[in-house]
Amino acid sequence: FTKIIFCIFFGYLFGCFSTGFFIGKLNKVDIRQYGSKSSGTTNALRTLGAKAGLLTLLGDMLKAVIAILFVKYVFFAQFEYINLLVLYTGLGVVLGHNYPVWLKFKGGKGIAATAGAMASFDPWIIPFGLPIFVITVAVTRYVSVGSLLVALLFPIWIKVRYPNELHMLIVASAYTILAIIKHRSNIKRLLRGTENKLGQRIKIDN
Ligand code: G3P
Repeated sequence: FTKIIFCIFFGYLFGCFSTGFFIGKLNKVDIRQYGSKSSGTTNALRTLGAKAGLLTLLGDMLKAVIAILFVKYVFFAQFEYINLLVLYTGLGVVLGHNYPVWLKFKGGKGIAATAGAMASFDPWIIPFGLPIFVITVAVTRYVSVGSLLVALLFPIWIKVRYPNELHMLIVASAYTILAIIKHRSNIKRLLRGTENKLGQRIKIDN
């Protein structure tokens, strides 16, 4: 149990590295005051452009990958339930990304971090998850729809690959629940037909 708490906390610290916020600050804006008010990739893209979006995506995915590599190969390399600890570490990263203590708990929506955690947990998710995301976003033009589908894929993947691991299924489902909680406003906009489409830029006055 202490190992689980340690992994969540360790992941949380990594998650607090809000790439989009830092890139915004380099450009003298707090991107959380614009667009969807998120510090994540989509909002960095929307407010600062493609380069900032890509860097945010990479930074936010990498923090999950790095935290998980530490847990997997440095701290608990020989541990029997390492898969579970990996899942908890990634969950900590998502929590830190979504609710960073030093930014008054106002961060992003956790999808890049979730994707980083999923890919580090099992790289075989990539050939399934990436096309689902890319095709959904290309067809609908809504990043949020692709994000929610990818978050939904994680518990399904765990259920298929580890049918008897209830604990793992519960932790993977927590990622999905966090994604849904963070996408409440997106879901409302989708239902109203007012969700922002990919490619819409925001004008920043600074
Ligand atoms: O990953 C976040 C994306 O799904 C939605 O972002 O900024 O449009 O709310 P945003």
